[in-house]
Amino acid sequence: MKKIFIISIALTMCDMFVNAQPFTLPKLNYEYKALEPNIDAQTMEIHHTKHHQAYVTNLNKAIVGTKAETLKIEELMINASKRSDAIRNNAGGHYNHSLFWEILSPSPSEASMEFTKAVNSTFVSMDSLKKLLTTAASTRFGSGWAWLIVTPDKKLVVHSTGNQDNAIMDVSEKRGIPILGIDVWEHAYYLKYQNKRGDYLTAIWNVLDWGAVSKKYAEAKNNPFLKVIEKDAWKELKDFHMVMAQTFHPAEEGKFEPIRERIGEMVSKAKLLNNNPMPTSFATPEMKKATETILKGTEEINKLVSKKADNKKLMDKLTKLHDDFHVIQGLCEH
Ligand SMILES: [Fe+2]
Repeated sequence: MKKIFIISIALTMCDMFVNAQPFTLPKLNYEYKALEPNIDAQTMEIHHTKHHQAYVTNLNKAIVGTKAETLKIEELMINASKRSDAIRNNAGGHYNHSLFWEILSPSPSEASMEFTKAVNSTFVSMDSLKKLLTTAASTRFGSGWAWLIVTPDKKLVVHSTGNQDNAIMDVSEKRGIPILGIDVWEHAYYLKYQNKRGDYLTAIWNVLDWGAVSKKYAEAKNNPFLKVIEKDAWKELKDFHMVMAQTFHPAEEGKFEPIRERIGEMVSKAKLLNNNPMPTSFATPEMKKATETILKGTEEINKLVSKKADNKKLMDKLTKLHDDFHVIQGLCEH
């Protein structure tokens, strides 16, 4: 019981390390030399106290005095495409390394039954998962990471990213919550392995704590942020939202050229939103009805534009459409 309590305090502290501002360098649960001979003490010390520390320092520098200062690290990363390179690279660097330290151990624990079952049903065996991760890590050109992630539909997926990107970010081809990451930047292995990335990738399995990965798997499946990622990855919703914003807001200021010029585009985006499959957890009858209403609304505006209706009529319909769109946004929040 006491042990569970201590572990739970330690995990809460880990969360704090990642979420609290200013961000701070997490302490490791083992000594730098503890992972030898698989990862040498000097590499571990430089990696943690210099490289990871630099991501933390530069992240804090990038957000101090800005609105981003109050955001959680996941919130900083999710719209990475719209953030500065400094935030994208350093938030990713801090998050990725924090996860990396937690899934390594001098005395690795076994995978849980639940995780093993998921691995076997997705990849056939733990061995084939390791092979896929090794391939993802060894074929990553230049610096980056190999990942095992939990996708919004709760599936396990292997992929890799360049630099310090990860699947939480909108710049990543695969989206989800990372539960296992292998650092393939040269700073992770060069002192001991030089150019032999393959030898480092063979050795890392000796210190990979599958028990810690299993715990992250169970947590990721219930992480509310998974739904945020799912909504963010709903391309048709994002695309429609963009045209809506770029036509409705000018109209509010009396500028009707954008809506008159782009109504055709808006109708086609509304069709895609209505006709394409929705992400699993949003696919409800209410949501289907809401996207049908949106499509009907855009088609009505299209008719008004064709008939060269006056701005007042156009604004009334556009306001209604905007309100209807917020119904979808509201449904997404539940
Ligand atoms: Fe690293």
